[in-house]
Amino acid sequence: MCGIVGYVGKRPAVEILLAGLKRLEYRGYDSAGVAFFREEKIEIHKSEGKLENVEKLLNGRAPAYQDVCCGIGHTRWATHGKPTTQNAHPHRTGHVVLVHNGIIENYQEIKREIISKGYRPESETDSELFGFLVLEQMDRGASLMEAVRQSFARLQGACSVVIMSEREPNVVIGVRNGSPLVAAADPAGGTILASDAQPLLQFTRDVVFLEHGDIVLGTEKGLRFFELETGKPVARASSRLDWSVEKLDKQGFPHYMLKEIYEQPTALMDTLNGFLDRARTDSFPLAASQPGVALLEKAREITLVACGSSWHAASLGKYWLEKWARVPVTVELASEYRYRDPVLGANALLIGISQSGETADTLAVIREARKQGIPTIGITNVRGSTLSREADATFFTFAGPEIGVAATKTFLAQMLGLLIFSGFLSLKRDGWHAGSLVSLDSVSRLFEDMIRIPHLLSDFLGNGSSATGLAGVIRKIAAELASAKGFFFIGRGYSFPVALEGALKLKEIAYVHAEGYAAGELKHGPIAMIDREMVVVVLAPRDQWRDKTVSNLQEVKARGAIILGIGNASDEELIGLCDHWIELPSVKVDESLVPFFLTPVIQLLSYELALLHGTDVDKPRNLAKSVTVE
Ligand code: AGP
Repeated sequence: MCGIVGYVGKRPAVEILLAGLKRLEYRGYDSAGVAFFREEKIEIHKSEGKLENVEKLLNGRAPAYQDVCCGIGHTRWATHGKPTTQNAHPHRTGHVVLVHNGIIENYQEIKREIISKGYRPESETDSELFGFLVLEQMDRGASLMEAVRQSFARLQGACSVVIMSEREPNVVIGVRNGSPLVAAADPAGGTILASDAQPLLQFTRDVVFLEHGDIVLGTEKGLRFFELETGKPVARASSRLDWSVEKLDKQGFPHYMLKEIYEQPTALMDTLNGFLDRARTDSFPLAASQPGVALLEKAREITLVACGSSWHAASLGKYWLEKWARVPVTVELASEYRYRDPVLGANALLIGISQSGETADTLAVIREARKQGIPTIGITNVRGSTLSREADATFFTFAGPEIGVAATKTFLAQMLGLLIFSGFLSLKRDGWHAGSLVSLDSVSRLFEDMIRIPHLLSDFLGNGSSATGLAGVIRKIAAELASAKGFFFIGRGYSFPVALEGALKLKEIAYVHAEGYAAGELKHGPIAMIDREMVVVVLAPRDQWRDKTVSNLQEVKARGAIILGIGNASDEELIGLCDHWIELPSVKVDESLVPFFLTPVIQLLSYELALLHGTDVDKPRNLAKSVTVE
């Protein structure tokens, strides 16, 4: 999605804008640009493609920009109009220059109007049109602030805008009307604005997440907030973030994705600490600070709603909640669910899961549920995200910032959150559960195992450098499979959602065709595709489904597929069927926890295959980290 940065203050603005945009690259984009004041005029430098193209435009002139102290920057993910330099932001309309994130739904109507008034848009974007509205108001005598307010009243759709005018040098105005915008005072004097908090962290950890309908005025003196609708000043408290800027760097890993895979043990540990009251080890209560506990306890049926990887985590959640808590669960793709007319019983609870907390479809479902009086919980990794503001209560995962577009550590943290919910609801024995519950002893053991998982996973992952360690084994196998025609990931039970995630990861970062399938379903159609060039990755840990999975594997073996097995040591029968073999750690944990070992295997496999295919691992083509359009 588009990324916005704005700065006014005492520091060199061009450097700040470029560094800020780099921090937002992970959101996905196809053109970029910056605009800044030189004396009282605004210069724009923009280009299709990557940010490096803009840096090249500025290159060699950097010292000349040292005195620039006010500007705005943008990374654009094309919606209206192709990803060209002309459509790249910032856009100029007369003395007004702006960047925009989101969609102006009534842009056709506005376009007709401004053309009829003699204005001539130069781009195909909806964004540029807003500039004409502001220009018109200012030419009638309005201040920039007033013109922005009046023009915004004309727009339909969710968006945020950051804007400047040559008539008011060294002023940056930001509006949040749906799409997120975050602001902070620069301790050295000034204001920085951005689409998320990451560009701000180099200056401060105290940031203000603008409310929907806020307008912020940034000057060298700092920032002031107003209501977009009335123009009245409004107070906004800052939130202190616990994300340090060091955490955002690659720390020696070649890619953020790899670093984030190796951060999973820490993400799990922090999420356990965040969800559970760790002072108590006898009964494993949820932390009292978690505001959704009462809503969870009251639920008699649960609907889990999400997209992409978060939907895979939800699918695992269904298995766990049904097994441990005996609560009826449905799992829904937000993009489908929002346009259905679903039936929910009394005492239903809707849980929206989204690492970014900004996924448009998931948010739409939460809003609709709230309208209908259905209680909602959000699970997200991002404090201050729209999900966390709009759900009745939010559980935050503690994975830290995830920069790679592919979800890795946030996925594992979501899984853990749902497993904790399952154990917690199992312990609430108040007589309503749908069927008999597992013993209290086994729930206690489940929690004890969960607490061991970060360490066990850390041992399993190793440090990634040894040729005989997990990464080394996977690297070697990937090299042998790199030219395969396609991949099937198959599994049953808990391994099925992991198989779906394996196929998604491979598609999104290696651009290799892959499908995830329930092992028992292959013979109902896709088995026709199996031949000697097709790889079947079989997830067959020793669990209650293992024997059935191995039978399904025989079916594809007989048809010549190349088989990569992931299972437990000493499973000689399975090993005998496989051309390649990855061993899970020999640890005794409840089988509910095996997906926490399977998942890093499929993540590393996709990563290694992506390297061999030479793709842009952290920023795969066509993808965005937070999908704020439906
Ligand atoms: C995951 O690797 C993908 N990039 C994508 O499927 C993602 O999970 C999906 O867009 C949902 O995002 P969210 O968790 O931020 O809502």
